[in-house]
Amino acid sequence: MTTPRTIGVALLGLGNVGGGVVKLLADNAAAIEARLGARLEVRAIGVRDRDKKQRVVEVDHDLLVTDLDAAIKRDDIEIVCELIGGVTEARHAVMTAIAAGKQVVTANKALLAIHGTEIFAAAEAAGVDVYYEAAVCGGVPIIRVLREGLASDRVEAFWGIVNGTSNYILSTMTETRRPFADILADAQALGYAEADPALDIGGGDAAHKLCVLVRLCFGTALDVTEIPTDGIDRIEPIDLDYAAKFGFVVKPLVIARAHPDGQIEARVHPALVPANWLLADVAGAKNAVYVQSYALGPSLYYGAGAGMLPTAMSVVSDCIDIGRNIFARAAGAKRPAGPVLEPRPMLPLAEVRSKYYLRFGVVDAPGVLGRLMTILGAHSVSIAQVVQDAEAKPVSVVVVTHEAREGDVRAALTEIDALPVVREPARVIRIVG
Ligand code: HSE
Repeated sequence: MTTPRTIGVALLGLGNVGGGVVKLLADNAAAIEARLGARLEVRAIGVRDRDKKQRVVEVDHDLLVTDLDAAIKRDDIEIVCELIGGVTEARHAVMTAIAAGKQVVTANKALLAIHGTEIFAAAEAAGVDVYYEAAVCGGVPIIRVLREGLASDRVEAFWGIVNGTSNYILSTMTETRRPFADILADAQALGYAEADPALDIGGGDAAHKLCVLVRLCFGTALDVTEIPTDGIDRIEPIDLDYAAKFGFVVKPLVIARAHPDGQIEARVHPALVPANWLLADVAGAKNAVYVQSYALGPSLYYGAGAGMLPTAMSVVSDCIDIGRNIFARAAGAKRPAGPVLEPRPMLPLAEVRSKYYLRFGVVDAPGVLGRLMTILGAHSVSIAQVVQDAEAKPVSVVVVTHEAREGDVRAALTEIDALPVVREPARVIRIVG
């Protein structure tokens, strides 16, 4: 009997995801070995403090190292899993690994959104793989779907719920009306939120994931700072109520579309979606991506977008794929090509066309409603539905528009917000789906 081949793995980081990887490698050891034909063995775990008392999982203390560079370069390490998060230290670790000829797995969407072009180019030049299934939608294998399942297709557009924390907060608020801060604290305790939850709530995490998906779908590298990004922090429970009255639910979306003239439309914002649309049922911390592609048509990918084991599952599956590539290369196979990129202009936000939910807080006086409608009409914004709530303080006027140009809507709102009868700035939520 021959001893099975063993592939040495270094984990950089032993937080929620790193701990999950250790647990999954132990729990599913036999199945993983059978599928790969080799063992994945964690031989080093990079941590800040070797003597930290509380760990997510128990590990052999001898595996813990604080010199990450030395661990990366060790001869008995073939795959480096970057699970430290952040950008600066993670970039150094990944580039060091690539330069040392190591295969890389990363769960770091911020790193790939900001430095993806540099990292993939370096990997291609060095002839190593950089896999990143866990970077988008945690355990949902959307990267594999786009890279392999739809390899012969052409994605035209996609709509995604890619931040579990935001989805959890909005879903829980819709069901329970509990305060925002309490629900966020739950999401943090459940391990969904980023170390800096402002990235979740403000839409930054979703924008990073959108960049990663756009690169795969449309072969272009967006500047994440140029993606129009609104978080969920301006959504109030009253908007959830009005949304329900109009037959919608509020969901934190990323949206991207390749326009026939080459422009890329990409944006991150909460949106009203029809209550009977598939994405409306994606609740809690679940993620989903609804893809529209030329040959397949619509398809939906759904599952746990965050959390210890789902995310670790993607990391370990990447290690298995890379292990297979290592063996294939040994047999002379060519490694998969890196993404081919070309610059594509972004559709300016002012040119985006959408339906809108608008909520105005106004004084209750003759002619006020008429003035609002007149200004919207003068800017080519056509009204589909209007509801006035005279019990609210200030009085609420809620408008659902027909499809309009964003620039026209914004110009109308600037004019309306300046009216003396208006008591608070208009709330704007786009309607999608
Ligand atoms: N903070 C992220 C989320 C974790 O809530 O979706 C997964 O990237």
